[in-house]
Amino acid sequence: PRKVILDVDTGSDDAIAIIMADLSPDIDLLGVCAVNGNQPLCYTLENTLRIVELLGAQERIPVVKGMDVPLVKELNPGRLHQPMTPTTQYDDQGREICYHPKEFDLPKATLKPVDENFIPWYIRTIKSCPEKVTLIPVGPLTNIAMVLRADPTVVENIEEIVIMGGGHTERNSTAAAEFNIWKDPEAAEIVLTCGAKVVLVPLDATHKASTRLEEAQLYRDLHTPVGEMVAQLIEIRTRAYNLLQPLHEPDLCPIHDALCVAYVIDPSVLPGLLHTRVDVDISGGFADGQTIVDTRKLHNLPDNCWVALDADRDKFNRMLLDICARYSR
Ligand code: BDR
Ligand code: CA
Repeated sequence: PRKVILDVDTGSDDAIAIIMADLSPDIDLLGVCAVNGNQPLCYTLENTLRIVELLGAQERIPVVKGMDVPLVKELNPGRLHQPMTPTTQYDDQGREICYHPKEFDLPKATLKPVDENFIPWYIRTIKSCPEKVTLIPVGPLTNIAMVLRADPTVVENIEEIVIMGGGHTERNSTAAAEFNIWKDPEAAEIVLTCGAKVVLVPLDATHKASTRLEEAQLYRDLHTPVGEMVAQLIEIRTRAYNLLQPLHEPDLCPIHDALCVAYVIDPSVLPGLLHTRVDVDISGGFADGQTIVDTRKLHNLPDNCWVALDADRDKFNRMLLDICARYSR
């Protein structure tokens, strides 16, 4: 199995990514590190701990506490602080509808995060591993950028970094940018140019692998706590997309973060990766956090990224269901 570290801002789709990675026989999950993103760190960390407990993985998976603020974004007074598209609204019955509940509907975690700062934890875990380690960051890239700055030589023992983030023709936070990159653009640029093999899984790919609301029932029919949780998360996400993104096809939701895990298990889920140059706009204007994907190879800088612009929807959804069905407790 591939040695993997997940970096998450749990989050509804992050939760499904953790479940998929832990239950897959092709992945050996060395740890999960939480970061500020979908919600403040205290919530993303607590939700991560709750999911690890749901999986009964307290002994298997160390949970690590990462950064609670972006690298520099909030310090730049010259930055145009554009409002992000709304992520919460109320439906006709006054119910709060959002993509990422602050607190998952699971028992409060009794598990504690590891008692070590995330930077030495990452460096030690990557360097002491006899095999190369694959990083799957599916939140803002703050933690990974800090680790790369602290010890750039970790790259030598990294197999690949599979990032959920960015968008070429699709965006979701501003007219220019996708959420994970927009939250910490400088961190994203550091990771994209670190010299490791980087695979970028942007919205262009994740939207092509969307899950249908009616598929939630397949997970419920597994009659397991994990199946029930995945069903609920698909329903939460679909409700949010229906209300908050009326231009999106109804009753359909992308499970962005889990698609990166699926790629590590079976790369054919992302057909036709484009090897090219990708940079992030960090100038702080209207395009703040935009990923500039050079699809026409106009650049004279080295290619730094394998970009997924397509995905195999059926394969992804089949993989996720099969993996969840493995959990019988
Ligand atoms: C990304 O942003 C977050 O809201 C999701 O968890 C996903 O990682 C999609 O833009
Ligand atoms: Ca995420």
